[in-house]
Amino acid sequence: MLEKFEKRIIITAAALLMIFLFFLMYAVGRFRTDLPACVPYDKAYTHPHITQLDDSTYQVFMVARMWSFEPAQIYLPVGSEVDFYVTSLDVVHGFDISSKNINMMAEYGGIAKSSARFSEPGVYTITCHEYCGAGHQAMQAEIIVNYPTKR
Ligand code: CUA
Repeated sequence: MLEKFEKRIIITAAALLMIFLFFLMYAVGRFRTDLPACVPYDKAYTHPHITQLDDSTYQVFMVARMWSFEPAQIYLPVGSEVDFYVTSLDVVHGFDISSKNINMMAEYGGIAKSSARFSEPGVYTITCHEYCGAGHQAMQAEIIVNYPTKR
């Protein structure tokens, strides 16, 4: 037999759960929030490079290590659709792109994947937001959109 008080707690908890789920679905729909995916590990991902699939589709293979990202500068035309594959060569690093809904962990032995579209020109900073040692605060890279390609 449930106490009146217990019943109230269960109802409140269920209502809160519904509210959280509602806002989660709202975020997924409204802000096109993409849940990061995990890709089966392959040593090929530890080699930093950029692949162009067609005029506006790119794959960026990003490697994090104490205390830098490689490639450190990425040049893309406006309107690029980019898949990011991120791994680490040592400790756990963070991978956050300014103005984008991308927030991942770079882990040794793991590949995290997320996608973004760059429809506005600008400089998007990639920041390590996971404390990784003495050089953590300087661990950054840049995505430069609408600049002449250097590749
Ligand atoms: Cu890498 Cu903090």
